[in-house]
Amino acid sequence: MKLRSATQFAAAAFALALLAFAAPPAVSADKVDPVADEKAFKKFFYDKFPKLKPEDFVNGPYSMDADLYKQWQDKEQFPPYEFSLELGKEMFSKPFKNGKTYGDCFPNQGIGIRQDYPTFDEKEGKVITLELALNRCREANGEPAFSYVRDEMAALTAYMAFTSRGKPFNIKVPNDPRALAAYENGKEYFYTRRGQLNFSCATCHVQSPGERVRTEVLAPALGIVNAMPIYRSEWNGMGTTSRRFTTCNSQIRGVPLTPQDDEYRNVEYYLSYVSNGLPISGPGARP
Ligand code: HEC
Repeated sequence: MKLRSATQFAAAAFALALLAFAAPPAVSADKVDPVADEKAFKKFFYDKFPKLKPEDFVNGPYSMDADLYKQWQDKEQFPPYEFSLELGKEMFSKPFKNGKTYGDCFPNQGIGIRQDYPTFDEKEGKVITLELALNRCREANGEPAFSYVRDEMAALTAYMAFTSRGKPFNIKVPNDPRALAAYENGKEYFYTRRGQLNFSCATCHVQSPGERVRTEVLAPALGIVNAMPIYRSEWNGMGTTSRRFTTCNSQIRGVPLTPQDDEYRNVEYYLSYVSNGLPISGPGARP
């Protein structure tokens, strides 16, 4: 009797361990601990894909599938984002009507700084993404804001990412209750189920990376924003982070938020933070 229950106990413990392994990293609402989150998040993915090196994860779907990886290597010979990169470079250096440039709005003239975004602005008490900072720069210089989901914004962020390639994500969550709340809100958004299909971001990108949705191979959540913006054949063009987030929300028949809504900014903050140390690989190209 005793032995039997011990066996049962062991079986139950084993099942639980499996469950813990398969479940997304725990969401603890009571205590916000980005450092512990990052560690658990990475461990989850490293355990799930023991053959991959940390820097492999930034290649999204290509890290998940050998055939795709081969296609990608071929594609990188003539990268389809080249056009956007050239355009971005030109736009970036061209002065506004007032003679100032984008570079004047950023540290180090905007070169090699993509890995520091999103940042937390302590004056405003909010998360500032690179896309948002670019539009604010335009408006401060008397230029109209660009659409967050169209080519101009993709080109600018493609160029800025390119000048930062290989630099490790270096996102800071300062010890400020508003920063911790923004981070936690982003994390909650990521794990909350929504839409007619009742999926969370994590359902696809934590529980199912490597699996196929229609013809697409799901990217792992670790390193998922490192390659943004991306060229996608299906879009026949480039897509910003904003475009990708809104598209993912539509895929689960949910109602997307407005690009650069606080929650999207916060979810980008969360995803970037837990990928700290992994290199920027943008702009990317996808099948
Ligand atoms: C129904 C499954 C599904 C859900 C839910 C989902 N996505 Fe996606 N996501 C995809 C697919 C399919 C792609 C394109 C293939 C790929 O790269 O994963 C994608 C791509 C992405 C990419 C680009 C990755 C890359 O390397 O190309 C990002 C970033 C992303 N999703 C973020 C999110 C966020 C944030 C959420 C929650 C708001 C979310 N996704 C919810 C299916 C989903």
